[in-house]
Amino acid sequence: MEKNVHPDVERLLLSAEEIDKIVKKVAKEINEDYKDEELTAVVILRGSVVFSSDLIRNLDIPVKLEFMQVSSYGSGTTSSGCIELKMDIETDISGKNILIIEDIIDSGNTLYKLKEILKGRNPKTCRICALLDKPERRVTPVEVEYIGAKIPDEFVVGYGLDYDEKYRNLPFLGILKRSVYEG
Ligand code: IMP
Ligand code: MG
Repeated sequence: MEKNVHPDVERLLLSAEEIDKIVKKVAKEINEDYKDEELTAVVILRGSVVFSSDLIRNLDIPVKLEFMQVSSYGSGTTSSGCIELKMDIETDISGKNILIIEDIIDSGNTLYKLKEILKGRNPKTCRICALLDKPERRVTPVEVEYIGAKIPDEFVVGYGLDYDEKYRNLPFLGILKRSVYEG
């Protein structure tokens, strides 16, 4: 086992090097699709901060940054399905190319709701970019145009993703030990 894996982490899912390759692959797709266009990246706090800061530095198109926050997991590992908007953007997005940047799509509830809210404000385009996708867990179907990697149904932490606000600073993605969140 890698020497820098955290004691609460069962096993490494993606190393920093593997994440870097994934980020560059996604950035390339976005650069190609938005050639000669301007992009407004809507970063979903807090889990997407690490991913989005790496992603935007690999974009060679003009990018504006906006932030939104929604309530999600609290201290559990399953979504309530009830999404509360905690922080909204203050900019008029009508006529703009909106790219929602999210860390992970799980049930799909959060991104479905966010996309509905933003689409209602008449952007030119509204797409989603998620670093990780757990397709087995989907409850609400939602189209995600850019996906970094599909992963199995495991609770992962690191690279911005948390459990109970911890582990966001780990430079890799790891599967959290069940003993951390079970009994
Ligand atoms: P959804 O609404 O069920 O798709 O949940 C999306 C949100 O749940 C993400 O923004 C994450 O904050 C959180 N989440 C889902 N799965 C994980 C995970 O494996 N690790 C950490 N957070 C997760
Ligand atoms: Mg979270």
